[in-house]
Amino acid sequence: MSIRILGTGSALPERAVTNEEITELVDTSDEWIRERTGIAGRHISTGETVASLASRACVLALENARKSADEVELILVATCSPENVAPCAACQVQKEIGAGNAAAFDLNAACAGFLFALHTAWAYVESGIYRNALIAGSEVLSKIVDWEDRGTCILFGDGAGAVYVEKCGDGGILGFVQHSDGNKGDVLSCVGRTLENPFFRRISEKNYLKMDGREIFSFAVRQIPKTIEEALEKAGIAVGDVELFVLHQANRRIIEGISKRLGADEVHFPTNLERVGNTSSASIPLLLDELNRKGELKPGMRLVLSGFGAGLTCGACVLEW
Ligand code: ACO
Repeated sequence: MSIRILGTGSALPERAVTNEEITELVDTSDEWIRERTGIAGRHISTGETVASLASRACVLALENARKSADEVELILVATCSPENVAPCAACQVQKEIGAGNAAAFDLNAACAGFLFALHTAWAYVESGIYRNALIAGSEVLSKIVDWEDRGTCILFGDGAGAVYVEKCGDGGILGFVQHSDGNKGDVLSCVGRTLENPFFRRISEKNYLKMDGREIFSFAVRQIPKTIEEALEKAGIAVGDVELFVLHQANRRIIEGISKRLGADEVHFPTNLERVGNTSSASIPLLLDELNRKGELKPGMRLVLSGFGAGLTCGACVLEW
């Protein structure tokens, strides 16, 4: 038994921000950003929230799957930039879309979060606890990005993507792996609220995203091909049989490096980072939704979804559409 994606949806904030606009904030250029990352623009929240973007994406995923909200048994929202400590974004989505029969909770594995949530849903369905799930990756990273740091603010965008999955007899998800390396936690981090109570006060750290870009770059190019090969081996599928690699959209050069190491032609690696930047946990479902709506995903097609992020975390999923 496995799960199959029956519907996809996505949502972006209304405000699109060009590289030129970023050059007014930090010492950079459109040329540098395009050459080093492939990014030309991103969408930035002017009021949209993790919960509102996730809700919009979930409604569209349900419509696409021709399902109603009250049929949903589990809602998972992967995010590392929620508005609230409580209630979680998944419960806010549940309320917003009227999915009163679902259990709902959030999950954080940074940019690999959507994959970890998909794997969690698979485990729930496989064990017979639930028959379906609505899974969103949603981020408003613009509130944790340091807009004075040119090493990070050029990269990220806000947005959400969602999928509706259901139990299936054959096909669907064929193989899955996920890995974490907490020893490399400092490579990409963002502190939350620091400890402060009547008995203790810690000097506040600047709570913005801090990143060692080169370290992440080499981690992704080394680790992702291995992770993908591991998932393909589990699924009993060769690299050459994969029609599309839907990868986390962090940097075009990372995607090129991964395709070279895998020995797979770049035509099999669709991208949307040019328009949306790195949207962390939203990145994979957002791209998947764009491909789905363009009619580029055909029944029986073999796909690999793979991503990496803070933690460090990484994962890969092999599936039949
Ligand atoms: N504009 C102009 N110059 C810049 C900029 C900028 N925005 N940023 C850095 N530079 C300069 C540096 O200061 C450096 O100058 P120097 O040689 O005089 O010291 C030079 O450009 C090269 O810097 P590098 O850091 O070596 O640049 P690199 O080619 O590695 O690109 C980048 C940097 C784009 C951040 C790249 O390392 C990268 O994409 N890394 C992966 C990041 C990533 O994917 N993060 C997200 C992970 S997912 C998650 O969990 C959120």
